Amino acid sequence: MERELALEFARVTEAAALASARWVGKGDKEGADDAAVTAMRVMFDTVSVDGTVVIGEGEMDEAPMLYIGERVGIGVPPEVDIAVDPLEGTNLVAKGLNGAIAVLAASPRGSLLHAPDMYMDKIAVGAECRGRVHLEAPVKENLRQVAKALDKLISEVTVVILDRPRHQQLIEEVRQAGARIKLITDGDVSPGVAAAYQDSGVDILMGIGGAPEGVITAAALKCLGGDFQARLWPEDDTEIARCHEMGITNVNKIFTMDELAKSDDVIFVATGITDSFLLKGVRYFKRRAVTQTLVMRSTSGTIRHIEAHHDLDKKPLFKDHRIKLLGE
Ligand code: FBP
Repeated sequence: MERELALEFARVTEAAALASARWVGKGDKEGADDAAVTAMRVMFDTVSVDGTVVIGEGEMDEAPMLYIGERVGIGVPPEVDIAVDPLEGTNLVAKGLNGAIAVLAASPRGSLLHAPDMYMDKIAVGAECRGRVHLEAPVKENLRQVAKALDKLISEVTVVILDRPRHQQLIEEVRQAGARIKLITDGDVSPGVAAAYQDSGVDILMGIGGAPEGVITAAALKCLGGDFQARLWPEDDTEIARCHEMGITNVNKIFTMDELAKSDDVIFVATGITDSFLLKGVRYFKRRAVTQTLVMRSTSGTIRHIEAHHDLDKKPLFKDHRIKLLGE
């Protein structure tokens, strides 16, 4: 993929963030998501790519836009798989909480795992801890390895976990091991990626969250040289059957980062909607909005943080879709 594509994709997540940021605190997660999806979809029509959504808003009959299998871009090479989450953390935006991002990963066609929409058990770390943790290892052993790799005491290691009843035992084991915990209410992509940033305040993400979010996190960690492992967590026979339908015969398989994002050519972009471990959220002043976007390419290993100042009066996207996007 050409390097210019990274900037084009950044415009796509910026648009989604700018649109959904208007919905912060409005208590309307569907409205916020709809705004992000609409903006992202409109902006995709300007991108020089022949993209197929492999992780998106759902199956064709469930989602009007950015559904799995939908073609995006203007239809010129390269052919790429696209994984999108226009609003990662719908509840966070609805409640005006930290941690919401607009995110997209792209890789040559056939290289991103088409993850079924179900839960996934995940472990995410940065480059120093690569190869040192394992999903099946005891929690204490993984934390001991992380502490050693980062030259910290276990009591200085920070684990991010979604605050859910299903994590009661995990939380207990982390506490017994002596590590610090940050419980989050939603949005595990941002802390998963942040585990690879030394000054983010996150050393490791553990626990069960969405499988689509897992593939997106794996793509990001591939760019950052971190590590990610995961296992699908089907909850009933229907979900097991769904895995089989999608070609995953062994539902207990542990997927490595390289199996979730197979190519060495990955682009990852994310724009902050509200403040998060990774990025500042959208800020407004005098008909302008400021966004912060993380742009990474695995081929070059370059990591960019782009701060963009948008003149809202010059954005046709927002004029043409004013009511829908502004939520007024
Ligand atoms: P939405 O943005 O789709 O609302 O979900 C965000 C999220 O918190 C993910 O980050 C996480 O992987 C998943 O939902 C957790 O699911 P659940 O809320 O069912 O525990």
